[in-house]
Amino acid sequence: MITQETIQQILSRIDIYEIVGSFVKLKKRGANYLGLCPFHNEKSPSFTVSPTKEIYKCFGCGKSGNAIGFIMELEKYSYVEALKWLANKYGVTIEETETSPEVKLIQQAADSLYIINNFARDFFANALFESEEGNDVALSYLKQRGFREDVIRKFQLGYDPASGNQFAQAATAAQYSPEYLQKSGLVVVRDGRAMDNYRGRIIFPVHNQSGKVLGFGARVIKTNDKSPKYINTPENEIYVKSKILYGSYFARTAIDKADECLLVEGYTDVVSLHQAGVENVVASGGTSLTPDQLRLVKKYTNNLTIIYDGDSAGVKAALRGLDLALEEGLNVKLVLIPDKEDPDSYVNKVGASAFIEFVKEQKKDFVLFQLGIALQDAGNDSNKKSQIVNQVAETISKINKTEEFTRRQDYIKQVSEILKIEEAGLNALVNKFIRDKVTKDETRSFRNEQAAAEDADTTVVPETGDAELLFQRDELNERAMLRSLLEFGLMKWENAKTVAEYIFEQVPEDDLDTFICNPALRDIFTRYKTWYREGLEPTIKNFLYNEDREMNSLVINLMEVNTEISPNWKQKFEGHIPTREELFKEEVISTLKYLQLRKIKKLIDENQREMEQAGSSEDQMNFLALHQMLKTMEIDLTKGLGTVIFK
Ligand code: UTP
Ligand code: MN
Repeated sequence: MITQETIQQILSRIDIYEIVGSFVKLKKRGANYLGLCPFHNEKSPSFTVSPTKEIYKCFGCGKSGNAIGFIMELEKYSYVEALKWLANKYGVTIEETETSPEVKLIQQAADSLYIINNFARDFFANALFESEEGNDVALSYLKQRGFREDVIRKFQLGYDPASGNQFAQAATAAQYSPEYLQKSGLVVVRDGRAMDNYRGRIIFPVHNQSGKVLGFGARVIKTNDKSPKYINTPENEIYVKSKILYGSYFARTAIDKADECLLVEGYTDVVSLHQAGVENVVASGGTSLTPDQLRLVKKYTNNLTIIYDGDSAGVKAALRGLDLALEEGLNVKLVLIPDKEDPDSYVNKVGASAFIEFVKEQKKDFVLFQLGIALQDAGNDSNKKSQIVNQVAETISKINKTEEFTRRQDYIKQVSEILKIEEAGLNALVNKFIRDKVTKDETRSFRNEQAAAEDADTTVVPETGDAELLFQRDELNERAMLRSLLEFGLMKWENAKTVAEYIFEQVPEDDLDTFICNPALRDIFTRYKTWYREGLEPTIKNFLYNEDREMNSLVINLMEVNTEISPNWKQKFEGHIPTREELFKEEVISTLKYLQLRKIKKLIDENQREMEQAGSSEDQMNFLALHQMLKTMEIDLTKGLGTVIFK
């Protein structure tokens, strides 16, 4: 762990303009700087840097963050790696706190494995290019398959000589520990003798996204039925198959630029496509995608295109687990390569430009593709058909982030046309799945089954259209409240009271959930309050340099970087435009009122429901009295509403 002091030293030196400016050409525009976004392709600049707020935001692709986040995004670094990069840039010496013995052991193991892997990679590459056997057996094979020498070198391919223990001997002579040599999978012990595990095979080093060698895939040259086509590194401290995408190191910039990641099955597919100039490509190794791999893709892009051979078992494997991709907000497309070819053989057969054209034309939406296959299977069986409707509705229901509303509706429209069913009906079904999931998630926390059942009984779900709108307005007001707190919290409200203290008064602790429904926003609120109470400065800057990246980007999204005002407005206000700072009290009051009103409305609803069930007329009277009181409060609140409206 890097010490807090070191982190503070780094933070105090950070100049976001300087850091971003060393990668992006920036031009001054008002209070901000503007440039071409490094994270997506664009012709006119929408990438903005605000030196005062110390953040960047691209209005094209939506990426945003602080200086650390920028380095993380650009270099795909972890938080700690980015800090180290910055420390190096600013000449800050890093002090680290003591790590626990267990962690140290793992680190040691990982370090040793990396060192051995580097040694092995160099040994194998050398054997491929410099030895006679390598030239005759392996290099000639690769060349005969059409691989160019520059690409072979780029991917650091190699060869392990067939004689049995040349690598093991070299590694032992270089004093690598036998224990780690076995752990790395490079060496196996047979009858007390250390043997090369990959003897006689072509070696594909597997890199992580920053180019470190995690392990190897070793392919036979002469296929025989006895040994497997590939031997892969066994799981160890650094080779964790479920987190690896082969080729990610070579593909990262191209994926960023294209805003699309192509996924193929094999090592050779990746190398061949690179050679053909298609560089935004990674391989999963023929298994279905894991959540970690999906997350890795998501670090680069939201657009995933899977290119598999048409009749491979891989297609089914790939399709599995893809509902998860939808939940993660990925756009998944599918391309099937015909005639028993795979991407490698197909690109060799038809050439680069025909291949690219083919992918572009054949790209099919994953949801619709799946539907197509299911329909084919079902034939005329009407039972199966209704099953399909249910399945596809459930799949679509996975797309349920607020910002994906339109995407979901698009699917509903298209699918209802394909299935020749009413759009409204499908819509209702999808919504049912969404509700089921929400209720399931909510009730999961209730151990008590009865409580769960009761809860389900009383949940009232409003019509979806309205609910969506209402939800968005609620969300906007919650955000506005947080934004006021962050920006104006430390300003004076009245007398000795700060804005923050006023807001704390109005938003009672035990009622936080009703005032702020969005848990992520609630976290910010709670953290702000804690910092404030403890005398720490809850400034925006401190929030931005927080290790919690999700909280970071949420805080940035709350801010408005673009504060330029159109000339028309300038005229209208005759030179003086009231700023948010000047109007901040009104802003605070009106958002708080909205949230209070929301709460009162909820109470009125609850009261009404109880009133309907009340037994005695005395109870009825009580409920009625309460009802009237709440109504009066509602009217009072409504009167004050509307000075600043967040819609
Ligand atoms: P393929 O059999 O399609 O291999 O397996 P390939 O990459 O196209 O190789 P060539 O073109 O025949 O030389 C696809 C992927 O599945 C994994 C590897 O990652 C391979 O690249 N695989 C396959 C294994 O891990 N072990 C095996 O025995 C076979
Ligand atoms: Mn192949």
